Amino acid sequence: TSPVDYQAEDATISQGTAATNHTGYTGTGFVDYTNVTGSYVEFAVNAASAGTVPVTIRFANGTTTNRPMDLVVNGTTVVAGQAFNATADWDTWTTVTFPAPLTAGANTIRLTATTANGGPNLDKITV
Ligand code: GCU
Ligand code: CA
Repeated sequence: TSPVDYQAEDATISQGTAATNHTGYTGTGFVDYTNVTGSYVEFAVNAASAGTVPVTIRFANGTTTNRPMDLVVNGTTVVAGQAFNATADWDTWTTVTFPAPLTAGANTIRLTATTANGGPNLDKITV
């Protein structure tokens, strides 16, 4: 049943590391994206039935600069360059929600940084 939390630190991480050096995360940590274009976290999400559902992304961005990412579902970019704007500091988390078109069964949701700054710190997604 929904909603289900998927922790970033338990997902597939490309060019990033699981970290705990800031407060306020859920689970056992968060992902610190390496500050390069193309760094990503990919979640394996199972859906009981096909349909478009809200996916909530929890993140922190302790800089003063947007850290945009592409939101990619099953290989298709659903939102290009979604903004992940500054939060007050790295201990302050907020959410962005987007509609994800899921198929019945196995799905992938990949969040890919589109600038050389990499992504924000990523705590989890909720589906
Ligand atoms: C700092 C911060 C990290 C963050 C990084 C960044 O090093 O401690 O959590 O990921 O900045 O700018 O991406
Ligand atoms: Ca980082």
